Amino acid sequence: MKLTLSVIKADVGSVGGHTKPSSRMMATVDREVGKAIANGLLIDGFVCHTGDDIAIIMTHTWGEGDPEVHQFAWKTFLAATSIAKTSGLYGAGQDLLVDAPSGNVRGAGPAVAELSFDHSLSGSRPAESFMVFAADKCGPGAYNLPLYLAFADPMYCAGLMLPPMIKGFRFHVIDMDHTAGDSVIELDAPADSYHIAALLRDNERFGIDRIVSRTHNEVVTAVSAQRLHSIAGKYTGKDDPVAIVRNQGIFPAPEEIVSPFAKAHFVGGDARGSHVMPLMPVPLNTAVTGMYCLPIVSCAGFSIDKDGRFSESFTDFFDNPAWDEVRRLAQRKAIEMRSQGWSGAAMLPYSELEYGGFRDTVSSLLKRFQVREERKPEAAE
Ligand code: 13P
Ligand code: 13P
Ligand code: MG
Ligand code: MG
Ligand code: MG
Ligand code: MG
Repeated sequence: MKLTLSVIKADVGSVGGHTKPSSRMMATVDREVGKAIANGLLIDGFVCHTGDDIAIIMTHTWGEGDPEVHQFAWKTFLAATSIAKTSGLYGAGQDLLVDAPSGNVRGAGPAVAELSFDHSLSGSRPAESFMVFAADKCGPGAYNLPLYLAFADPMYCAGLMLPPMIKGFRFHVIDMDHTAGDSVIELDAPADSYHIAALLRDNERFGIDRIVSRTHNEVVTAVSAQRLHSIAGKYTGKDDPVAIVRNQGIFPAPEEIVSPFAKAHFVGGDARGSHVMPLMPVPLNTAVTGMYCLPIVSCAGFSIDKDGRFSESFTDFFDNPAWDEVRRLAQRKAIEMRSQGWSGAAMLPYSELEYGGFRDTVSSLLKRFQVREERKPEAAE
């Protein structure tokens, strides 16, 4: 069977400021997913939140970009928005940027990652397992470094030296500044790995769209790489990407995929989406309540049975004492960075503040600049 994994995530309102969705919102999304499974649209579904973003993780056979699956997610987020509105929650409907998208919701606000594969539980995939990363309070290229390290650097993924992976992976890199359609380049690691790095270093402009096994021509990773403010034309919160990563066998093992997150690397995001702060790995369903509003990322793992259903249980990868050490590292890095407040590298560059209030403040001052009259040298006697 051709199976599709779809993850659609949106921030449609939160309790007590931008912290987490309400229990009623979560229950509603859960109930809608249950109905979609019962009526045959979905094979299976799972709902969780990261900060104030609700993620719906789905399996089905309708392919990527399917209008019905996307409309189901959109309507479900609208139902959660209406609860957020009734309860007076913050940012109700924030990520639903257009009135009524026809069909596919990619480009309409929610983060979308999807991939399809032949699901036969035989050949190169005798078992199918995958992970879903979901981030809040951070920019669209937050996975550029960790996914590069997991799929192109044997210092992080020794499995790359094994026969099923030694030919490397093909990176599809998307130019997120290009808004009229997706503009993508395909580059092979390891041959082109310096070219890949030259693009991915710019987290705000270039993002990984997908990664494909060069040996098996199988998609292993799909990422939602889109900039919300390129869609809305104004600041609308942070982009908060999601990623699907298949694992084991012909792909890296889970520990090889999560190990780069031990860096707690700096990304754009945090308060007012305008700072440069470390990405903290957190358990599923974590509220954003720490000092500074740190960028956070969660990671859920699933197996899939022969009919496309999730295992009866899931794995919460960052809910482990090993990650406490990384959380402390992230907090220490955050305290260091924020000790320099608004200065230089601690905040995002001017171009990234382009549509925000910070930009308006600077623009109003720019109007008051005057070219100083040239000082004339004293006339000689
Ligand atoms: P198990 O023996 O638990 O399957 O672990 C094998 C392994 O290779 C870990 O990467
Ligand atoms: P959200 O995208 O979660 O709304 O966060 C935006 C923000 O600006 C945090 O200060
Ligand atoms: Mg929010
Ligand atoms: Mg959010
Ligand atoms: Mg957001
Ligand atoms: Mg084992």
